[in-house]
Amino acid sequence: MQLYSSPASPFVRKVAVSALELGLAARIEVLNITLSPVSPHRELRAHNPLGKIPALITDEGEALYDSPVICEYLDTLAGGNRLFPAAGPARWTALRRQALADGLAEAAVLVRYEQVARPTTLRWQEWIEGQFLKIRTGLDALEKENLDGPFDIGAISLACALGYLDLRFPGERWRETHPRLAAWCTAVSERPSLAASTPA
Ligand code: BEZ
Repeated sequence: MQLYSSPASPFVRKVAVSALELGLAARIEVLNITLSPVSPHRELRAHNPLGKIPALITDEGEALYDSPVICEYLDTLAGGNRLFPAAGPARWTALRRQALADGLAEAAVLVRYEQVARPTTLRWQEWIEGQFLKIRTGLDALEKENLDGPFDIGAISLACALGYLDLRFPGERWRETHPRLAAWCTAVSERPSLAASTPA
């Protein structure tokens, strides 16, 4: 399998962590590419018309995207129901938590693009504040959740979203205002899959 990647992407990291947790990492060749929001990456677009990473090319040559689909595919390859709980309440909690964490990471990536890629004169501060509001209300909701339990796709997504905040927005200092979430993050960060995939 081949994985179109970019080392800082929290969504690529989700796939990397899932592959490590499932013992599949050695079967994936990582293709690191540089993306621009305005100039399409032709090779990637031939596989994913949206031009987004991560995109996985299976051994059968099919392109899969985005991270929830790829992670569930890997889970199936590894026998199933390891990172994606079988039908029932645990599944819906894991999927909802994945959606919340991915939304939080998406808002953070959009702010990052706005701050580093958009010309200074075109920046829109209120829009940036709107994205930060999503991040902060997401963190507030997660602070109230009981995150004990298996390291499933919800937990993986959350760990990668928090890791991206630490990488790109250390000034947010979310740990000071979300101590339960911070304790959870510190504890799970010791897992080899997260330690091995920490973005530089
Ligand atoms: C980043 O550099 O922050 C980044 C790169 C690719 C995808 C998402 C984020």
